[in-house]
Amino acid sequence: MLQDDITNLWYEKATVRHTPRILLGGESGDDHPSYPAARCFICDHPIVQARGHAVRSYIITQASYFFLYNVVLMETRFVIQSSLAILHGDNEGIDDFQKLRALTVLIDEGYHAHVALDYILQMRRKSGIEPLIFPKSNRKIDAIGRATAGLPEELRSDFQLLAVTLAENVITEEIASMGREKDAIKSFATLMMDHVKDEGRHSNYFSDLMKSRWAVLPRFRQEALGQMLPGFMRDYLCIDAGREFESQILRACDISPGEITQVLRDSDEAFTASHELMTRKTRVRLLHLIRQIGVLDLPVCRQAFAENGYST
Ligand SMILES: [Fe+2]
Ligand SMILES: [Fe+2]
Repeated sequence: MLQDDITNLWYEKATVRHTPRILLGGESGDDHPSYPAARCFICDHPIVQARGHAVRSYIITQASYFFLYNVVLMETRFVIQSSLAILHGDNEGIDDFQKLRALTVLIDEGYHAHVALDYILQMRRKSGIEPLIFPKSNRKIDAIGRATAGLPEELRSDFQLLAVTLAENVITEEIASMGREKDAIKSFATLMMDHVKDEGRHSNYFSDLMKSRWAVLPRFRQEALGQMLPGFMRDYLCIDAGREFESQILRACDISPGEITQVLRDSDEAFTASHELMTRKTRVRLLHLIRQIGVLDLPVCRQAFAENGYST
């Protein structure tokens, strides 16, 4: 595609340029919390149900805040930062057109964060429920931080590009599957689907950029990055097995420690199965992308992936 066509496409398609504000309220199912209950593994347990409708709504509303705050975090603390690093030339050999595209990504992501936070504020006004937790980081951002800290300085900018490329290639499915949940109310589903519309462009941008960057990296750098990737992916995709966030919500509902243990134990199979299904699909998608970038062309990288249970 010609450079002008790519730029025109952003002007024509970017949701920040064309979509109206997403308003909560006045829609069917309005009396229900916005977040899909199917993604909340504790809200329909008999112990929770026995506390009444308001407690169930409180739990789902907190889950919704948590999810949306995490969207804000990923956009502002990771993808925008990575786009700024590209813009400011942290990775060598990136031309002005690629920098222009980095600007489109950070504008889009700033808008996605704005939409998510605007929706949180509307939910707070409508429900009168204050968020229990204002997350400052999350497991994915922490995993990226840990992996970066373990690398020598000269590999960090390329690792950041690699990490944002992987993250942006799986986010579409994560967000789309949330919007597809049948019990999500219309405004929440619209929020998810509007977001997804921009992500195809982002994933193409980052994967093209990463492929061209990989091709010019010295072999010793390719090998170092490729060999640490399986460990990073394990950390990045791992779940909160202790389910601390859900415990915290249940404690806030005055549910006793013994009952919390029971709610978590009884819902653990569904919780684990749901995350394992998503992780399995994500691993397949990431491996495909990693192969396309060229990482698996190197025997030592292929071996590292094979040793970590990937069929290369
Ligand atoms: Fe986004
Ligand atoms: Fe994105």
